[in-house]
Amino acid sequence: MRVIIEPNYEALSKWAANYVVNKINAAKPTAEKPFVLGLPTGSSPIGMYRELVKANKEGRVSFKHVLTFNMDEYVNLPEDHPESYHSFMAKNLFDHIDCPKENIHILNGNATDLEAECAHYEAMIKEAGGIDLFIGGIGPDGHIAFNEPGSSLTSRTRQKTLTTDTRIANSRFFGGDPNNVPAHALTVGVGTVMDAREVLILCNGHGKSRALQAAIEGPVTQMWTISVLQLHQHGIIVCDEDACEDIKHGTYKYFKDIEKDQI
Ligand code: GLP
Repeated sequence: MRVIIEPNYEALSKWAANYVVNKINAAKPTAEKPFVLGLPTGSSPIGMYRELVKANKEGRVSFKHVLTFNMDEYVNLPEDHPESYHSFMAKNLFDHIDCPKENIHILNGNATDLEAECAHYEAMIKEAGGIDLFIGGIGPDGHIAFNEPGSSLTSRTRQKTLTTDTRIANSRFFGGDPNNVPAHALTVGVGTVMDAREVLILCNGHGKSRALQAAIEGPVTQMWTISVLQLHQHGIIVCDEDACEDIKHGTYKYFKDIEKDQI
């Protein structure tokens, strides 16, 4: 696992966006061989999305031959609700870049058969040739996508119940009342994320410091689903100084040292 420690959120966002731009450009995607990108929502990726929009507008990257698969979506929240992940993605990324509508995939939390919707999503990822780069954030309890503590580390796309902690954390987007946060979501599984050729996790702020500690220094455990990244061959966490509060001083120095000469 690589751990990149940036001074602050802005630097973290720029690092992540540059990484994505370089990956897409290096792949030289075409209509026949598109680049497949897994994408998150939440506040963590907003800065990276801003930088990606800028890079697209400046002609440094094109999304014409990029296929996207979002991680998750609430169940029973209208697609045009301002807090749906459909709305979030349109507002923060898709409305501002040259990614064709038909290349964009987001789970439908209003499907009549949710199980079939999840199976179909997995099939579409497979048909696309798998995900080249899955980008994710993490919850304060270490969840990735909506794979809450106790989720199987080999899970696939399915419906999950959100924990009270997550509903409280996300209530800031729903007028401050956790009861307004949908109780269920469709989410890619931990196994779905792990199947990607590369996984890049964004982790910023004091509120994520325990999750970062568990991810890097703890054992691989279903109680911190992000810890499974330790088993991925190409896992990267990019974090800021504030998120490093709970890792050992030696761990911090180790990753600072080993990354200083990275190309
Ligand atoms: C939600 C999303 C996760 C996200 C997490 C953290 O639970 N389903 O994908 O990583 O929130 O959100 P934030 O980035 O706002 O801290």
